[in-house]
Amino acid sequence: GVPHIVMSNGVSIPQLGLGVFRNPDGDTTVSAVREALAAGYRHIDTAMIYGNEASVGRGIRESEVPRREVFVTTKLWNDDIRQGRTREAFLRSLDALGMDYVDLYLIHWPVEGWQKAWEDMVGLYEERRVRAIGVSNFQPHHLSELMDISSTRPVVDQIESSPQFPNNDTMSFARSRRIDVEAWSPLGGTGGTLLEDPRLVDLTKRYGKSPAQIVIRWHLQRGVIVIPKSTHPQRIRENIDVMDFSLTQADMAAVDALDSGSRVGPDPDHIDF
Ligand code: A2P
Repeated sequence: GVPHIVMSNGVSIPQLGLGVFRNPDGDTTVSAVREALAAGYRHIDTAMIYGNEASVGRGIRESEVPRREVFVTTKLWNDDIRQGRTREAFLRSLDALGMDYVDLYLIHWPVEGWQKAWEDMVGLYEERRVRAIGVSNFQPHHLSELMDISSTRPVVDQIESSPQFPNNDTMSFARSRRIDVEAWSPLGGTGGTLLEDPRLVDLTKRYGKSPAQIVIRWHLQRGVIVIPKSTHPQRIRENIDVMDFSLTQADMAAVDALDSGSRVGPDPDHIDF
């Protein structure tokens, strides 16, 4: 099965989950979630801004898997952070999901007002409306500020990370503060070319695994929580079929060497959305 990581507050998270960014609300997402749960996933990562929380909730309810066995993450959107509407936004997310708690609630981006939002999230955590709280797209300087102003630390920082942009500086900073790291766009993102890189394709031959499986394995061996996204049943199954092999140190280094130094996503220090 999928390994778990025990986060700093003692809550356990499956190290591999299904991402649903860019999935429309409706049958596509419901099916992806059902397919993932049938394949053994027990962790779904959504966000209010993805607009598909209702379908995530429906997919989980339509599966045979009890709610408490699934780790569900959602995120507080920028406008709600700026307007100081944490509690209202959280209740709207719960309502859309059709759930009475979420496992992990994240500040989506470090936009103006995040400090107040964090205080409000600590309140939700203390009231046990969420099992854990964390942040996303925080740079080391944001994490430092957060730890200066609050005695409750985020359990995770969910950041862009893939072989082409491993984000090692933020990763080491977070880990040195006992904050676990989750990787978004772990396969290089929608429309990316990472999975076609000949150096990666070369590695697949040795293991009889696909480029996506090699990359997911690389994340797991780095100790990162990884949430690859797919709407295709065959790929959803493929992406969790990574527990029967491991990359050698030399091959981990070969994947490390794919670092191009450039993000595919937005720069967290310049958010204009
Ligand atoms: P699709 O949903 O059409 O399968 P990310 O890095 O953000 O998780 O993005 C992964 C991208 O790669 C998605 O666009 C997804 O598209 C695609 N993808 C996911 N799994 C696989 C796979 N096993 N093989 C090839 N492409 C994949």
